[in-house]
Amino acid sequence: MTKVITYGTFDLLHHGHRNLLKRAKALGDYLIVGVTSESYDRYRGKLNVQQSLMERIENVRGLGLADEIVVEEYEGQKIDDIVRLQVDIFAIGSDWTGRFDYLKEYCQVVYLERTKGISSTELRDRQHPLIRLGVVGSGRIANRFIPESKFVSGVTVEGVFNPHEDSAWSFAQRHELGFWSSEYEEFLSRVNAVYIASPHETHYEYAEHALRAGKHVLCEKPMVFTASEAERLFGLAREQGVILMEAIKTAYCPGFQRLVSCAKSGKIGRIVSVDATFTKLLPSHARGMRNNGAGGSVTELASYPLLAAFKLLGFEYEEIGFYSYFGQRDGVDLFTQIHLRYSGAIASGKVGLGVKSEGSLVISGTRGYIYVPAPWWKTEYFELRFEDPNEVEKNFYKFSGDGLRYEIMEFLARIAGGRMDEGACELSVRLAGAIEKYRSGGVVRLD
Ligand code: CTP
Repeated sequence: MTKVITYGTFDLLHHGHRNLLKRAKALGDYLIVGVTSESYDRYRGKLNVQQSLMERIENVRGLGLADEIVVEEYEGQKIDDIVRLQVDIFAIGSDWTGRFDYLKEYCQVVYLERTKGISSTELRDRQHPLIRLGVVGSGRIANRFIPESKFVSGVTVEGVFNPHEDSAWSFAQRHELGFWSSEYEEFLSRVNAVYIASPHETHYEYAEHALRAGKHVLCEKPMVFTASEAERLFGLAREQGVILMEAIKTAYCPGFQRLVSCAKSGKIGRIVSVDATFTKLLPSHARGMRNNGAGGSVTELASYPLLAAFKLLGFEYEEIGFYSYFGQRDGVDLFTQIHLRYSGAIASGKVGLGVKSEGSLVISGTRGYIYVPAPWWKTEYFELRFEDPNEVEKNFYKFSGDGLRYEIMEFLARIAGGRMDEGACELSVRLAGAIEKYRSGGVVRLD
């Protein structure tokens, strides 16, 4: 009996898949089909799959061509499957020509011609109209956003807005964008969503204007400086039937999401303390160091440790306190330690633009603790540690590129679904509320 194996995601099953499976089956007597798991697809950067693993398996099974279906869960599994299942032929579409030659050591490798004019990507794009997005601002993060957006299907960055036309123009040239503008109205009329990456103090105005114009808004953190401004913007988004989302990339990265679930699963017992640090030394001329009311460590970085505290201990803290080192009387806070007191728990966050520290996250529980090494906000790895060192559990996750692709994916999924994530809205309101508290004088100066 000749055994053939093939692999794929088989999202939104189409006739290209059917042709491929038919031809693969014809190569032998027994066909094994490997269907990728959700986590493996995420791992290899395929972030736009629409159907669940179960749906995709059922669709493949429904074709009646597979004699056996396996789930592909990790890099290198193909070799293991081929050896374990005693496969004679590995078959795959011609878009992969050459990529699987390394399997020739284990079995025959056949590349079958791909059916022209159809793909899951195309079907996904047809289902949801392409989002034409414009970038507001042309600074550091905006420059990182463009390459990241290319990893996500269903969106195209069309143009850029900057009140300084020269800056808009050079950004558009650098990223080969279709247009640039220094007129916000005109800019908005050419897109159906915006990513706001302008200086913090301008977010509210740009977001409000865009929402009023019926555009979806992805806004860099901190979205705004007060809870009421955040509430007003979310209210406006609801009224207008559009999506408003704060670009808190860590919240959407798979490793961090798994970390939160793991910590809350009871494995380390009751969580009693969360300690998160994020420091980033900036030169004195940087935007974040400007004493214009919008600079400083808290406004720039506090969203990260606050995110960890809120996700792990909730929003219902009883007290929040800030201790800041300013360096100079009229300077920005170069370092701030934030304390959140909960009933039965405490969180502390350290942020610094002029003081360097270890950027780790430690979640302490009654049975053990979780240690996430720097940079914890790009969670790729975390350890569960217990009194008995033999019990240590190590967890690895993939954090692709700059990580912005995860929040872009979420933004598009929310647009496609037509609904905001109420938990994420509340998180943004609470983050803004904490920053408001700091800015309204709730700080103890260390100098
Ligand atoms: N395939 C094919 N002809 C097509 C599309 C896919 O022969 N028109 C083959 C692929 O080469 C692969 C298998 O079907 O061997 C599963 O491919 P998969 O990646 O699931 O499908 P795509 O439509 O290529 O998906 P995407 O657009 O998400 O990459």
